[in-house]
Amino acid sequence: MSNKLKLGMIGAGFVANFHARALKQVRNVDLAGVMSVSPELSEKLSRASQSYGTGTCKVYNTIADLAENVDAIAIFAPNFARVEIMEAIVDAVKKGANLKGIICEKPLGRNMKEARRLVELAREVNLKTAYFENQIFMKPMQAQLSQLQPQVKTMGPLVLTRSAEEHGGPHEGWFWDPTRQGGGVLSDMGCHSIAVGWYALTPVDKSPRFLEPVSISAETALLKWGLPEWRKKLKENMGVDYTKTPAEDFTTGIVTFKNPETGQMVKAQFTDSWMFEKQGLRLFMDGMGPGYAFEINTLVSSLQIFIGDIAAEATANAELALEKSTASRGLLAVQHNEADLYGYTDENEDAANAFLAGKDGLLDWEYGLEITKMIMAGYMSAERGKVIDLTDPKILQELETFIPLIQQGKGTEVLHVVK
Ligand SMILES: NC(=O)c1ccc[n+]([C@@H]2O[C@H](COP(=O)([O-])OP(=O)(O)OC[C@H]3O[C@@H](n4cnc5c(N)ncnc54)[C@H](O)[C@@H]3O)[C@@H](O)[C@H]2O)c1
Repeated sequence: MSNKLKLGMIGAGFVANFHARALKQVRNVDLAGVMSVSPELSEKLSRASQSYGTGTCKVYNTIADLAENVDAIAIFAPNFARVEIMEAIVDAVKKGANLKGIICEKPLGRNMKEARRLVELAREVNLKTAYFENQIFMKPMQAQLSQLQPQVKTMGPLVLTRSAEEHGGPHEGWFWDPTRQGGGVLSDMGCHSIAVGWYALTPVDKSPRFLEPVSISAETALLKWGLPEWRKKLKENMGVDYTKTPAEDFTTGIVTFKNPETGQMVKAQFTDSWMFEKQGLRLFMDGMGPGYAFEINTLVSSLQIFIGDIAAEATANAELALEKSTASRGLLAVQHNEADLYGYTDENEDAANAFLAGKDGLLDWEYGLEITKMIMAGYMSAERGKVIDLTDPKILQELETFIPLIQQGKGTEVLHVVK
């Protein structure tokens, strides 16, 4: 194998295009191919990749053909298609495709059964894995970790983190459908915030799974998109009926972790919403240690632009300025390199370096499975109104087959939908 990884993508939608843009800044990946159920989207991604100079990105019609022609595959398709896609990849490997590694976007599965199946399938054919959780790779996150090392060493580690990912709601109907996506915002974005909190609390020289999850409590609520006029918009624009199968648009909770060497308990609080009424996507993280702290807010940019009413028509596409932008006039925050800011560049580089060296990425699929476990436990906590003990063998057993009511399409039993 050369010193460049030939990558194939499955899925050519929103996130695949983001990754393709990130690859412009990654030297060890060649975007060699793409397969998706939408040939038009595949063709579009292929043209984009060629124009970026990131690879020929040949369009393949089947997973088997893609697998034959690349070194590694990235699963960037919707959550409900994970298992069938992975089964087809494993089948191709058994028939001779020489794959080294496999990447999966968050979440690894809609529940433990699916996530565990993915881990087992990868093991069956000895594929190295990378679970894509971009926020851990964000440069501001990595910079605060290295900057604060002297303080961590002398004063002790961080004791509290608070993480949030919030925007006005996803771009495709399947995200809003809890049966296809896996739930609402806890499943979709809670996975980011829990992961990044866990990671920021972890001592720098330890592996990402070093701190042991001890307990979680969470709440889920439908605050905006269950109101009659917003429900109507959802039905018209996204094809989902939140009077029948609602999902949560807000979640918050807290996870307690234990340092297995010192016994110290630390906490990660998370808040995620699809009802954020500000400029666009905001990632917020802060952390408190004894005598020191950090704070990251992606809505604070070094670039702001102003567009008055008279000139507003000139801004054809608000999303050019910021992911999930909600306005195209006034004083606007602009992030000029979102793919890098959000960590997409560095996670691709990490996976490629690892696969080229015959290793797993920094975050392997076992790590993704742990995140799924905490998400499932979060739903369990919200349903039962109780703190879930993540050290109780009975609870851990129960989580293996637990499907949240919201994911089952029975969200009306746990969420308040206004008449
Ligand atoms: N890390 C992040 O911040 C982030 C952001 C967005 C999405 N994601 C994750 O990425 C994944 C994809 O999300 P998206 O926003 O790109 O979705 P999308 O709906 O925009 O695109 C999905 C793509 O998958 C293709 N597809 C659908 N079913 C398929 C199948 N069975 N086989 C092959 N291709 C199939 C579609 O044609 C489309 O090209 C999701 O799992 C989502 O959770 C992560």
